[in-house]
Amino acid sequence: MSTDNLAKIAQQMVAPGKGILAADESSGTIQKRLDSINVESTEENRRAYRELLFTTEGIEEYISGVILFDETLRQSAANGTNFGALLASRGILPGIKVDKGAKDLAFAPGEKVTEGLDGLRERLAEYVSLGAKFTKWRAVITIGEGIPSAYCIDANAHGLARYAALSQEAGLVPIVEPEVLMDADNTIEVCEEVTNEALESVFHALHVHRVSLEGMILKPNMVISGKGCTTQAGVGEVAEATVRSLTRNVPAAVPGICFLSGGQSDAVATAHLNAMNAMGPHPWELSFSYGRALQAPALKGWGGDAANAPLAQRLFLHRCKCNGAARTGAYEDAMEGEVAAA
Ligand code: 13P
Repeated sequence: MSTDNLAKIAQQMVAPGKGILAADESSGTIQKRLDSINVESTEENRRAYRELLFTTEGIEEYISGVILFDETLRQSAANGTNFGALLASRGILPGIKVDKGAKDLAFAPGEKVTEGLDGLRERLAEYVSLGAKFTKWRAVITIGEGIPSAYCIDANAHGLARYAALSQEAGLVPIVEPEVLMDADNTIEVCEEVTNEALESVFHALHVHRVSLEGMILKPNMVISGKGCTTQAGVGEVAEATVRSLTRNVPAAVPGICFLSGGQSDAVATAHLNAMNAMGPHPWELSFSYGRALQAPALKGWGGDAANAPLAQRLFLHRCKCNGAARTGAYEDAMEGEVAAA
């Protein structure tokens, strides 16, 4: 595929008012999510839950693409329509998580490296035949005593760059996700420093690996206080620090930056994105690729009971709508009350 076509798909992924739904929870992660609502993680329950999300009427106004897990790309709705085809028929691009998870990095206690490069070219060819238009690879950077090391940051950047090049070679737009975790007790300043180092290393590696910046999407963490930090930075501070870090490290040729939510509550993740877009214009689209922050209310509302599907879909559509508004800085706290009134 030409780089022009990759750029077109990347632009579609960050079309005005739209963002990406991350529904690519691996087997372990979806089990955790279903455990939280006391639902067994069977293949049928996973399928039914994803069908509920993908068939929600109206999401196509706010959702440009959905990231799927391997199992889900091979599953179908109850009416027999394959999920990839179902999404495509609604104008939503199907994408696929292609990494094999973050594993312990040798000689680096407490640090991870993402695996999945072996055989990736062949797997990508199959995903193309199954209708995928883009891919995702998540690298994890942990903040702690004396970490992250430059070794960990560089090893992960190398993996992301090799993955991105292979994806573009296959005609798939790579979502490049270096996630600095927010689980520690660090200040926002430390998060900014580590995010700067991670992004600098990632864009250097992407350059070395000849990746076309116009044909990729960056999926970073926001610059934010660690969960355990006693002083939590406010919305304005998070927005300013995040935009400063991105401005310093992300070339303007990248069409879009779609944030992960990383454990932020749904309304806070929306408020942060909204504040950043209110500071615009920016050289790139600033959008969302949330998992938990788009799905949490719907998952709870569903609770594994088909009778609750209409409620769960209303809750899901509402989060899509709030984040769609945050794409232009038009989100307001008052929108949070709308779904209860519905
Ligand atoms: P969260 O928004 O729940 O962090 O998930 C996004 C994602 O895809 C992480 O890889």
